[in-house]
Amino acid sequence: MKRIILARSAGFCFGVKRAMSIADETAAGRNEGGGGPIASLGPLIHNPQAVEELEKKGVRVVGEVADIAGGKVIVRSHGITRTEHEALVAKGVTIIDATCPFVTKAQEHAQALSRQGYAVIVVGDADHPEVKSIISYIEPGTPVITTLREIRDATKIRKAGIVAQTTQSFDNLMQFVGEALRKFTEVRVCNTICNATILRQRESTALAGTVEAMIVLGGYNSANTRRLAEICREINRKTIHIETAAELPADIVDRVRTVGVTAGASTPQWIVDAVVARIRDVWRGDRIGVSYYK
Ligand code: F3S
Repeated sequence: MKRIILARSAGFCFGVKRAMSIADETAAGRNEGGGGPIASLGPLIHNPQAVEELEKKGVRVVGEVADIAGGKVIVRSHGITRTEHEALVAKGVTIIDATCPFVTKAQEHAQALSRQGYAVIVVGDADHPEVKSIISYIEPGTPVITTLREIRDATKIRKAGIVAQTTQSFDNLMQFVGEALRKFTEVRVCNTICNATILRQRESTALAGTVEAMIVLGGYNSANTRRLAEICREINRKTIHIETAAELPADIVDRVRTVGVTAGASTPQWIVDAVVARIRDVWRGDRIGVSYYK
């Protein structure tokens, strides 16, 4: 019998699921704010197919606040900066906040630390919208540090507080904590890492080690999906990252008897289902079992 084994953690995480359902409700007119156009500030999630579906429902992606004339604006799960939020308020548009509560927590910690006189170390990718949103909530005049070198070079700082981008690895956070402890008299750590990413990586790599070929689904523009594919490939060389069922390499799937399937946090269930259907199609005529990993 041939087998398709699905990672239980494949697909939307809590924050993305929540953001998508808020967007759906907004498109259906079920929440506050009356009528008018609906925009999302940046693509709601890193999955072109899901964004396209939302556009069909009337949710238009805009690049910046200046492009918004009125109506409703959905704030995506990464959050937005304080300046962007103030600009939206000044425009009088209805803000539908789909910021992931874990990101909001990180913003709140950063703000509280700065109000209590701590320099703030933000562990993460400084160009990522989530990190920009966290930094924007730090009180003006507070020293903000985002690299290990900046910790080593810091002067006149006695106490520092640490927050992390929600998708950072624990190891990376610990490197910053260690460096900060060597440098400052007082260090306060707020562990703002979300477990969803790490649990998905753990389950997917374990699954990759038990199957002949591993399919990783998700947007090519999703850093987390690319990373997921990378670490699965370290375990299983027949790891293939695709965005849709149409891209499934039938020749590879045809030559194996077990295929694992996982998906990044912004991959909708219908894409996972379509890939499973496509694998069944390639294996037409064989007995096929579909199950979840463990
Ligand atoms: Fe939120 Fe964690 Fe997803 S921070 S958006 S639940 S990966």
